[in-house]
Amino acid sequence: MSFSLRTFCGSVKVEHVGRNVQLCGWVDAYRDHGGLIFIHLRDRSGIVQIVFNPEITPREICEKASSLRAEYCVSVEGAVKKRLAGAENPNIETGQVEVVVGRMTILAESDPLPFAISDKAMVAGAEKAGSESVSEELRLQYRYLDIRRPAMHNNLLLRHKIFQCVRRFLDERGFVEVETPVLTMSTPEGARDYLVPSRVHPGNFYALPQSPQLFKQLLMIGGLERYFQMARCFRDEDLRPNRQPEFTQLDLEASFIDEEFLYDLIEELTVQMFALGGISLSRPFPRMTYAEAMDTTGSDRPDLRFGLRFVDVTDVFADTNYSIFRQILKRGGCIKGINIKGQSEGLSKNVLQNEYAKEIAPSFGAKGMTWMRAEGGKLESNIVQFFSEAELAALWKRFDVQDGDVLIMVADPSYAIVTSALGQLRLHLANRLGLIPEDLFCPLWVTEFPLFEATEEGGVTSSHHPFTAPDRTDFDPKNAEELLGLRSRAYDLVMNGEELGGGSIRINSRDLQRKIFSALGLSEEDMREKFGFFLTAFDYGAPPHGGLALGMDRVVSMILKTPSIRDVIAFPKNRSAGCPLTGAPSVVKQEQLAELGLLNLGGKEVLPGAAEKENLLDRVSWVSRIGIDPAERSVMEEVLSQAEALAGIAGKEAGNEEPIRSVLPASHRTRPGLDAKRSELAETGKLLQSAPAVKGNYFKVASILE
Ligand code: AMO
Repeated sequence: MSFSLRTFCGSVKVEHVGRNVQLCGWVDAYRDHGGLIFIHLRDRSGIVQIVFNPEITPREICEKASSLRAEYCVSVEGAVKKRLAGAENPNIETGQVEVVVGRMTILAESDPLPFAISDKAMVAGAEKAGSESVSEELRLQYRYLDIRRPAMHNNLLLRHKIFQCVRRFLDERGFVEVETPVLTMSTPEGARDYLVPSRVHPGNFYALPQSPQLFKQLLMIGGLERYFQMARCFRDEDLRPNRQPEFTQLDLEASFIDEEFLYDLIEELTVQMFALGGISLSRPFPRMTYAEAMDTTGSDRPDLRFGLRFVDVTDVFADTNYSIFRQILKRGGCIKGINIKGQSEGLSKNVLQNEYAKEIAPSFGAKGMTWMRAEGGKLESNIVQFFSEAELAALWKRFDVQDGDVLIMVADPSYAIVTSALGQLRLHLANRLGLIPEDLFCPLWVTEFPLFEATEEGGVTSSHHPFTAPDRTDFDPKNAEELLGLRSRAYDLVMNGEELGGGSIRINSRDLQRKIFSALGLSEEDMREKFGFFLTAFDYGAPPHGGLALGMDRVVSMILKTPSIRDVIAFPKNRSAGCPLTGAPSVVKQEQLAELGLLNLGGKEVLPGAAEKENLLDRVSWVSRIGIDPAERSVMEEVLSQAEALAGIAGKEAGNEEPIRSVLPASHRTRPGLDAKRSELAETGKLLQSAPAVKGNYFKVASILE
C-alpha cells in the first residue's frame, strides 16, 4: 500500500461506508470470536475497528491476523461497513462503522508490553484496560509507550496548540522570538546552577541559564523593544509536582512600557490559552497587593476559589484577661482567625480539639489554635469562659457569625507564624470540607512585593531578582531596616493557588543598579566580576523596560488539570531529578573527566603523557588542541626541544619562577601548504601580551594558535 493514500483511523465515519480505505497504526485491542477477529486499530487520530472475516478476508491474511498482538504496527486495506444494529461501540468516535480487511502488512512486531496502553473497551459497557495504576517510574522508563496512550497524546497536542497560540499572539503584537545562549554565565534566580565543565578552559564552567533574564534585558538595550522566547531554563532545586530541573518559560520583555501594558498583554494571552482547553476566564483579572494577600490568606499566591479569608481580631483582645492572648499581645503579637461558615456539623468539638488544635495546627508551626462553635446565638468552646461578654460579642460581629459557623484563631508573637499556620489551616480545611470547586479558575495579579527579604546574617537578599525596580530610589543601601521596607515593581500571575508567572519593571539606571547591588552586599569588585558586562551595557542608554516569564509547563498542566507538570512534558525527570528512560545522570569515564580537568582540577597528572618526559609533544598537543600528524612528529619534536631549551635559558636569565609569556617574537608559523592568516596583533606581539599567562596550574595557550 502507499502511505500517501492512507486514511486516519479516527476519521473513518458513516460517510465512508462502501468505500475502500487504507489504514496504518497499532493494534490497540484484540478479540477472537471463533475465527472472526476484531481489532481496534489506533493511530494518532483515534481508533477504528477492523475485522478479519474468513468469508471475505483471504485465508492467509486471517492466519496472519491470528498472530497479531497488542502494539504490533500494521497497515491494512479494506471496505468500510456500517456495524449491525446493537453492535455499535459508543466508546470510540468511529463506533458506527468497521473496516473489513482485504489486505494486511505487519510493519513491526511488538514484545509483550510492560503495561497496558489501550484504554478503550471493545464492546459497550465493558471495562477498559487503562494504565492509571501503573507506577510513574515504569511509565517514564517506557515513556515512548506511555506517549502512545491517547491521554498523553492529547496532553502533548494541546501543549503544541498553546505554544502555537503564544507565538501567533506575540508575533501579531510585534514581539520577536530570539534564542539566547544555553551555555552561559550564572543568572541569579535563587536556585543552584547546573554547571557544564569547559574542555577548552580546564577548571572553568558554563552555567545553564536559570532564566534568560540578563540576555533579555541586553536585547532591550540592543533596541529590539519587544522580545519573547520559549526558553528552556535549568534550576537545581528541590523537586515538587510543579517543579522540574529543566522547564519551559514563555519569557518576554518590552521597552517603553509600564505595568499596565504587561497586565493587559498577559491577561489577553492567558484568556486565549485557557480558551484552547475550553476554559473561559473573564477580564480584568483581580489584583491584590502582597500585604493584603498575606494578611487575608497567609500566602503570596492565594487560592481564591473559596473564601475562608482571615479576619484580624488583635484589637478585640487588647485588654483581655485570657492570659495566653495577653502574653502574646504584650510581646507585640497578633491574633487572626477564620469563620468556617456553616461547617459545625463537619467540625465536631472532638475534631477541632483533638485533631486541629492538638495535631494539625502545631504541625503547621502554630503553638496552639483556639476554636469556637456558634450555637443558639452563642459562641461555645472549651475556653469560652475565659473571655468577657464584650469580647465574645465583638467576635460575633467581626466574624459576621451565624449559628452553625465555626471560628478558628491563631495567636503568636510572630506575624509570620500566625499567617503561615493559618494559611495552611485554610487550605487543609478547604480540602477536607470539599470547599474547592473543581472547574473554577481564579486568576489573580499579586503586586507590590517587598523588594528585599532578610538574610540570616542580618543582610538582605532580593525577593525576585536584583534587576527589579524599587518603588522609590532615595534609600540608604546600608540601612537594612529601610531596605526591608521597600516595595518592588514586581508582579506575579497566580491561579488557583499556583504561581503561573512572574516579572517586573526593571532598573534602567546604572547608578540605581549599582546601588541595589551594593545593598545586596556586593563590592565594586564583586559587581565587576559577576555583572561587569551587564553594568557596562547600562552605560550606553538603557531604555525603560520590563517583562515577565510564564511557566508554560504549569500553564498547560493547569489547563489540562493534570496532577503534575510531568504529565505535560514529553520526557520529564522523575522526583529525584533522574531520567528513568535514559538513565541520566550517569557516571562518565575517567578519561572524560580527565579531559575536562575534573579529576584534579588542572593538576598535572590528569594530562595524558604528563608523567613521561618523552611524551611532551602529546602533552603540548593536548593542551593546545592541535592534532599532530604522525608524519610531522619528528619535525615537531625537534622544534619543541629547541623551544624547550630556549625556554630554559630565558627562564634562567629572568631569574624567577614566573611563567614565561613569550620566548620568541610572535610571528606566523603555518604548516606547509597552508596560507598564514595575517593578524595585526600578532605582528606587533600584542596577541600574546594580552592573553592571560596562567589559569589554574596550566600555561594558557591562546586559542588563536589553532
Ligand atoms: P521566576 O523565577 O518567577 O521568574 O520564574 C517564572 C515562572 O517559571 C516557572 N518556574 C518553574 N516551572 C517549573 N519548574 C521549575 N523548577 C520552575 N521554576 C520556575 C513558574 C514561575 O512563575 N526571570 C524571571 C522572570 C522575569 O522577571 O521576567 C523569572 O524567571 O511558573
